[in-house]
Order: sequence, then structure tokens, then C-alpha cells
Amino acid sequence: MTRQILVTSALPYANGSIHLGHLLEHIQTDIWVRFQNMRGHNCIFVCADDAHGTAIMLRAEKLGKTPEELIAEVKTEHEADFEGFHIKFDNFYTTHSEENRKMSELIYQRNHDKGNIVERQITQLFDPEKGLFLSDRFVKGGCPKCGEPDQYGDNCEKCSTTYSATELVNPVSALSGAIPIEKESTQLFFDLPKFQGMLQEWIRAGHLQDQIANKLSEWFESGLKQWDISREAPYFGFEIPNYPGKYFYVWLDAPIGYMASFQNLCDRTDGLDFDTYWNKDSTTELYHFIGKDIVSFHGLFWPAMLSGAEFRTPTAIFSHGFVTVNGQKMSKSRGTFIKAGTFREYLNPEHLRYYYAAKLNNRVDDLDLNMDDFVQRVNSDLVGKLVNIASRCAGFITKKFDGQLSSHCSQPELVKAFTDGKEVIAQLYEDREFGRAIREIMALADRANQYIDEAKPWVLAKEEGKAPEVQDVCSTGINLFRLLMIYLKPVLPITAEKSETFLNVDSLCWQDADLYLTSHKINKFKPLMQRVEKENVDKMMAASKEDIVQENAVGQSTTAASAQSPITEEPIADTIDYDDFIKLDLRVAKIIEASHVKKADKLLQLTLDLGGETRQVFAGIKSAYAPEDLVGRLTVMVANLAPRKMRFGVSEGMVLAAGPGGDDIWILSPDEGAVPGMRIK
Ligand code: MSP
Ligand code: ZN
Repeated sequence: MTRQILVTSALPYANGSIHLGHLLEHIQTDIWVRFQNMRGHNCIFVCADDAHGTAIMLRAEKLGKTPEELIAEVKTEHEADFEGFHIKFDNFYTTHSEENRKMSELIYQRNHDKGNIVERQITQLFDPEKGLFLSDRFVKGGCPKCGEPDQYGDNCEKCSTTYSATELVNPVSALSGAIPIEKESTQLFFDLPKFQGMLQEWIRAGHLQDQIANKLSEWFESGLKQWDISREAPYFGFEIPNYPGKYFYVWLDAPIGYMASFQNLCDRTDGLDFDTYWNKDSTTELYHFIGKDIVSFHGLFWPAMLSGAEFRTPTAIFSHGFVTVNGQKMSKSRGTFIKAGTFREYLNPEHLRYYYAAKLNNRVDDLDLNMDDFVQRVNSDLVGKLVNIASRCAGFITKKFDGQLSSHCSQPELVKAFTDGKEVIAQLYEDREFGRAIREIMALADRANQYIDEAKPWVLAKEEGKAPEVQDVCSTGINLFRLLMIYLKPVLPITAEKSETFLNVDSLCWQDADLYLTSHKINKFKPLMQRVEKENVDKMMAASKEDIVQENAVGQSTTAASAQSPITEEPIADTIDYDDFIKLDLRVAKIIEASHVKKADKLLQLTLDLGGETRQVFAGIKSAYAPEDLVGRLTVMVANLAPRKMRFGVSEGMVLAAGPGGDDIWILSPDEGAVPGMRIK
């Protein structure tokens, strides 16, 4: 039976570039969608830019543009990036559209009519310097639930609790650094507690991964709260009917953007009917792929809003973890913030698709993009194993047999092992266990190579009368390659396309795994894929650091907060007492020796003179200083830090330095009058 499936990825904000984190989500979704379509199902993939909210309004203001101009430019960039990574949307739209305005009003109105929207007088934080109400992303402070410092005003990144900004502990305006004042106003709320019963049932009905269901059920313990869906002007969004000067909160119209994008697609596609997919009794399937940070919006507010408006709710929500780069959170200051555009300038997007696929599973775990592992994995699997099968066999067939494959299958058992993989691999894709699917496929690739290694067509080719055998071995090899390409096509669409040309076959679908090519003419083999060069990875990493420096220079950072200052980038830690402070023994120290540390890419080993006593310290400043620049200089060290055993030796203290990283790290140098050993207070 052909399934009718509608799939979405979360809508990226229209105020910043697509980065490797977004790509994990879109690649995961795209692989799944391509797989479904290869299986003969009707799977539609829509997305859009999330174009509303204060962040976008302020960013546009800063750049001297209208928000409309900004979001149009960003959309063009986003589309190019997604296309570059072969993400094949049926529609990529924007939430700032008439379809979305209408749909948002409809969903609001239906909920309103049912009494699900309530008015309440509330106190909100107001930035007295900027003259703006400070909601969500523009105020930071401690999480009222778990205490994690430096959280935004809408939800906690650590414990995922959502709350209102006034509940933050020690709030600070991220716009101006001012301490916000409280101001009263009337706002509209979605009456989430009314949906308590419905939601409690829904989150346990198989629509969510267990990890997510457990997380969300914590919400019920403290009782659901009404959800503030209105924002005061100035705001870039949709004005609420009958409430002049009030706007829908961006998170109200954002998920409705999924529907609006689909509506826009229906309007220009014959036979595609909106209601079939969204009516309450729809028999189609609806899936949202999202990151773990936005599960409460999708697992609570969204199904409640939909059911309140008499629409269907999602079949499932598939949540993934976060991308880290070389074990580190993607961060601008660490140089691990990699944009899609920078990646594809230096490296092959299909390689990232493969690497992500190889590491993805259906849980909410974070995924590390380790650059050395990336190079190794792609070169060994794709170039060393996969493409190698075709390139080893193709030459003989083309040169000796005029491109003609044998008239029969000489290795039926081996081939059967490959076709038998069809259902197992399909099930793994279906279950979003891509890493396991890739392992199965690569195990088959190993068998194919092993077969060719043993059959040695290059030896046979030199022997008299062995021509038919050479043709058989190479024909088998090429058929096995074809089967592997079918299985990898959802991950490697471009290589699959090139392979189809080489194999001289129509677009491969899953069912084609049952076929075997005999007496078939193939085309001349052209290299299908280049190796990844470590050098290009290094260039890409260097360029990513450069991007950030440039961005900061022109004030174009992705979040308003990080555009401000190093303080908002790495917020000030919890207050300490004077007693804590005085425990630090800061001393002037003279660097009397400095040297590289074998196998450490960040550290220098320093010998410090404290005026009689010497200390050995390892400092992560190699990217900014050469050892010879340091010898003879004075610096400041924490002299009473407990010795710490590191991989390279014991470090007896710490030198003080500041800066974003890379070339820009400065060790603290005291005034000229300082002498080694002098205490700083
Ligand atoms: N605009 C909202 C989503 C609205 S959906 C109705 C938003 N945008 S976002 O640009 O911040 O994030 C878009 C998606 O990218 C989210 O699913 C988010 O989890 C994901 N990721 C952002 N950074 C990520 C990583 N570092 N790693 C993996 N995914 C991450 O949230
Ligand atoms: Zn928290």
C-alpha cells in the first residue's frame, strides 16, 4: 500500500546562516524522505524560514534594512545552502506569508471560540534603555527551576523547563545590559492546562521517543501553565485580530508555518489536497524532525493547539541530539561554529551526509563530528571500499568486452546475500537507525571487495582463454556495486546519479534490488568521488574562525546576544564572596623557559619563576604564542591552584590569559615595576 506521508524539518530562524547543526537535522530528514520515496511511497517534505520575532526585527534594524529585506536575503542564502547539501524539499517557504497569516488566525480563532484563549494582566520585564518589552531571547538570567545560570527568558537549555521571563533569577537585558524594570500589560494566553488530560495521554501513545516522553511528563508534575501567545509592538509578526498593537508570539505561528508551506504547495500542485493531510480524521502520516531543544513546543503546545482547532495531530515527532565538533559544543569563540557555506566551499557535502548517516541512530544522543575520524571514515568507506568496487571492474568490461556484461549470473549465492539485505536495511532506514544501516551496507561492500581480491581479474586477464571468467567476475562486481548504490542512494544522491549514468540504468528505486543486470551495456567509468584531503579540512576550520571574526566586525552574529560583547558570549559566572576571592593567590611570574609539548596541539610548557620558587605549568596558548616570544616576559599566575595531573605531566598552577582563541589570546602582563613573586590583590 502506498503511504501518504508529510514530513517537516524545524524551520530555521531567518536571522543567521545555516550551520552544521541545522544540517544534521535536514540531512536526517532528507535521507528518510528519499528512502520513503525510493520505496514507492508518496512522501512530501516541506520546510520554511522562521521569519518572525524580535531577534529578526533588531537584526534588520542593526543592518539598516527592513525585516522584509533581511528575511528575503536570508531565505535565498538558506535555499542555496540546503540545495548545496542536496536537501530536496517539495517546498521551502517562509512564515511571513499570507497563507501563514490566514492559518494562524484560523487556529487562533477556533481556539478562541472554544474558550481556549484567555486574557490576563501580567507583569513583564521592560528594557528602560531600549524602550522594549524584554521577552524570551532578550533577557538572560538563572533558570527558575534548576538554577542553571545564563538562560534565556523562555526556556532552559539545560532542563527544558519553559517559564516566563519575569521568573528568571537576576535578569539582565541582553540588548543593553540594563537591569530590566517590571511593567504591567494585558496579554493573551493559550489555556494549556485545559489540555492536561489530552496531552498526558498523547505523550504516552507512541508519538514520541521514550526519552522525550519522560522529559515531557516532568511538566505535568508541577502542573501545566497557561502559555503567553501575544507580544507587544514593536514586533515583527502578525497582528492579532481585534487586538491592535499586539502580535502573535513567534512560536505560535512558527509550527503553523509547516501547514502554510504545505498549503502553498497544494495551491500550485494538481491533485494535492490540504484537507486530506490536515483534517482531524486524516489517514495520512505526519512527522516532524526536530532538535532536542524544541521538544516542548512540538510535544505539548503544538498538539494542543492543533486539537483545539480541530486539526489532526502529528503521527510522530522525531527528535535528535546536538552536533559537537571535535568534542566541543559548536561555538563561535572556540572556532567550532561551522557554516554550511564554509563547509561546502572546501569539502564535499555528500561526505557530510555519509558521516552523519554513519553516526545517526533514532535516539536523542548528541553526535560528534570529529574531523580526523571524518577524513578516515569517508576515505576508507566510500573511496576505499565502495567506489573501488566499480573502478576495479569497469576498465576490463569497457576495454575487453565493449562495455557488455555477462549473459548470466556467475555467483548466485553471493548476489543473494546482497539482495537478502534489502528488507533488513529498509527496516533500519525506516526506524531511523541509519548508522546500523550503513554498517550492514559496508559489511556487504567488504564481501564484494573480498570476492574481487580472491578472483583476481587482473591476473586472469593475462592468462590465455580466461576472458569469459574475467567478464563474469567483473560483471558480478559491477552488479554488487549497483546493489550497494541502491542501498546508499538515500544518503548519496549525487553519487547514485553518477552511478546510474555509468551503469546506464534508469533512476534506481528500492525494488530494483531484485534485478540483476545481464547482457547489459554499461558506460565508460568516470571517477565517482574524490578523497577528502586533511588539508582541506584544515582550511575549512581556519575559514570558519575567519567567518566569525568578520561577522563580529560587521555586527552580524546569529543571535542578538552574541553580537553584544564577550560578556554575553561567555556570561559572567555566579557571584563569589570576598572570602572566595581572597583565596586566590595571584602572583607575578617570570617565564624563564617555554617549549612545545609533544603531541599536544594547544599546549605550551612554561617554567615560571616566582622569585625563588619555580613552577611548571601547561598553558593552552600555543595558537597565539611561539615559545621564543614568551621567554623573559612577566605574566600573572594563580599560584595556589592544586597541582593537576595532565596527560603530559603535572601542571602546578595556571597563567591568566584572555581572548576568543586562535591567534587572539593574550597572557596578562603586569606593569613594568612588577617583580617575580609579587602578590596581586
Ligand atoms: N525557529 C525555531 C524552530 C521552529 S519550528 C516550528 C528554531 N530555529 S533554529 O534555527 O534555532 O533551529 C532549527 C533546528 O536546528 C532545531 O531543530 C534545532 O534543534 C536544530 N539545531 C540547532 N543547532 C543544533 C546543533 N548544534 N545540533 C543539532 N541540531 C541543532 O529553533
Ligand atoms: Zn533549568
